[in-house]
Amino acid sequence: MKADTIGTNFLKDKSTRVAIFASGAGSNAQKIIDYFAGDDKINISLIVCNKPNACVLKIAAFHNIPVVLLEKELFFKGDACVRTLKENNIHLVVLAGFLWKIPFPLIAAYPNKIINIHPALLPKYGGKGMYGHHVHQAVIANGEKESGITIHYVNEHFDEGEQIFQATCPVMPDDTPETLADRIHQLEHAHFAPIIASIVM
Ligand code: GAR
Repeated sequence: MKADTIGTNFLKDKSTRVAIFASGAGSNAQKIIDYFAGDDKINISLIVCNKPNACVLKIAAFHNIPVVLLEKELFFKGDACVRTLKENNIHLVVLAGFLWKIPFPLIAAYPNKIINIHPALLPKYGGKGMYGHHVHQAVIANGEKESGITIHYVNEHFDEGEQIFQATCPVMPDDTPETLADRIHQLEHAHFAPIIASIVM
């Protein structure tokens, strides 16, 4: 199959098969799985993870969702990951707390079919090293009054792909990175799955 056919035809398919890439606690993955449980248009078909002990693997096991554990060298060299996604007939890739940079062959095989959630208002607080608590620490250290989430397409530059959606929340004077992370997670849990639905419909 030619790589670009994946990108152009999935809207016509009966069911869009989604791979969630996650390497942490997996709370966003959990929300997305719950949201689309029983859905006839969107099927969460694969969990892709780069950490053998990640909690998201327990979530996948509980829901009987197949898992692919990534090896760093194979991921960054060659097209093994693309082949795995194609073998699993994946149409859309959702990054939900996945911290490795997406290599070019994967972006080329899934043009505008890879989306990421970032826990800040891009373009601020994005780029290499800006993930999870590092983001919230920087936001608080800079005295920001507002933070939020950005959902965007993934291109070859960290956190620079076209934006799809943003939502904001206040940063309180007594916030710690943990309290701000909780508020950001609430935003993510409320918006990520509906945005996925809206771009697929
Ligand atoms: C989320 O807050 C997500 O925005 C962030 O990792 C967290 C994963 O939480 N992603 C990044 O920082 C990417 N740069 P989860 O494992 O509970 O879903």
